[in-house]
Amino acid sequence: MAKGETIYVCQNCGYRARKWLGKCPDCGEWNSLVEERAPVVLKGRVASAARRSQPIAYGEVESQDEARISSGITEFDRVLGGGIVPGSLVLIGGDPGIGKSTLLAQVADHLSAQGLVVLYVSGEESERQIKMRGERLGLEAKNLYLLPETNLESIIEEVERMAPGAVIVDSIQTVFSSNLESAPGSVSQVREAASRLLMLAKSLTIPIFLIGHVTKEGAIAGPKALEHIVDTVLYFEGERHHHHRIIRAAKNRFGATNELGVFEMTGRGLVPVSNPSELFLQERPLGAAGSVVTACMEGTRPVLVEIQALVSGSKYGAGRRVTQGIEFNRVALLIAMLEKRVGFQLIGDDVFVNVAGGLEVDEPAADLGIVAAIASSFRNLPVDPHTVVFGEVGLTGEVRGSLQAAARAREAQALGFKRIIMPASNTAGLQKLLGLRVVGVRSVEEALDALF
Ligand code: TYD
Ligand code: MG
Repeated sequence: MAKGETIYVCQNCGYRARKWLGKCPDCGEWNSLVEERAPVVLKGRVASAARRSQPIAYGEVESQDEARISSGITEFDRVLGGGIVPGSLVLIGGDPGIGKSTLLAQVADHLSAQGLVVLYVSGEESERQIKMRGERLGLEAKNLYLLPETNLESIIEEVERMAPGAVIVDSIQTVFSSNLESAPGSVSQVREAASRLLMLAKSLTIPIFLIGHVTKEGAIAGPKALEHIVDTVLYFEGERHHHHRIIRAAKNRFGATNELGVFEMTGRGLVPVSNPSELFLQERPLGAAGSVVTACMEGTRPVLVEIQALVSGSKYGAGRRVTQGIEFNRVALLIAMLEKRVGFQLIGDDVFVNVAGGLEVDEPAADLGIVAAIASSFRNLPVDPHTVVFGEVGLTGEVRGSLQAAARAREAQALGFKRIIMPASNTAGLQKLLGLRVVGVRSVEEALDALF
């Protein structure tokens, strides 16, 4: 693309066109294409800044795990796949006010205590505001430096001059490059900033953390537009109204995705929760119809969560189905299966299903728990509170095996549950779990017989 040429970039998905279009052909959004200067400067810089690559013998490549730095916060290390990788670009996304700045201020403090110089670039808050938060958190942060700057070129210059051990950019939406005419926060600006900071992280072999806001209207110039550039994407999940905060790795070049970190938001910042099952089951009503405990794998760790269902007569003919924390279509499918295979009549009922505690569950192994919760509310019969239920349910009502069944059963045992209802195909070798009766089932009918 010749110098000075302009292109049209969809602010929703980043699609590029040579001329203006009313509707983006890629994502279908209307009026989302904005004129931007083709980032020719980027090309030149990339070519000159990047060092010429040389082939390296496989055996001589250093193993990255040895070089990981601990953030000093166990749950944060866990979502990162075992600590911070030097030279990585990590994006932390979440709703405003959920605790992104708090978390990274705490990380900065721990890194600084290890003797690392940390540069906190803030375009959102003044030094005073950051200091106020730091005082509330009781941070010492001897080696922490604050830089109120939003110009990308100045930030890069300062990082190169100072050569810190880690950099935090709060937030990526405030950073802008003078090479582009578009406004800060537009797709092209955040992408330009992220890709230049990626090169910076790699060339100095330091970790750089980017904070990104998730906007309500979807992900306009939000973390979604950056997912493919950065090494690791972490999202705050759930709502601000809970006391705990859940961070999930949506992408990780250095570890397992879907890994979960659980924190409690306290008066003195985020405190890691080492046993999330206990937290998620804390407020569980014992012996209430519609409440069932299921075992999910969140990354490498089993977590017990409560599924709640409420089936009630609809005032308006056909019943509504509302879900929270579980995919709507999955629940619709399980309801259809219950109607056809077990003979439930749910057409005139509203069915609400949610995961208590704001967790999002997208594992098929939760199916049997969902089915049990709906059946329990429908029949108005409680499920024994000392029972855990899990297993994937097929369209014919068969119960299929799940991954990591043994880990799930052991978590149930560790938390003092007395019985686990699970896929029959997974029970081999699990009969000797002390204090836990393992009941293998082949179908939903068998499971319901065991439950009620
Ligand atoms: P913040 O990190 O500023 O959110 P973000 O950067 O994601 O926008 O945190 C905001 C919320 O956290 C705010 O509502 C106050 C609360 N909070 C605590 O409960 N305890 C604390 O120690 C701190 C620093 C914040
Ligand atoms: Mg903030």
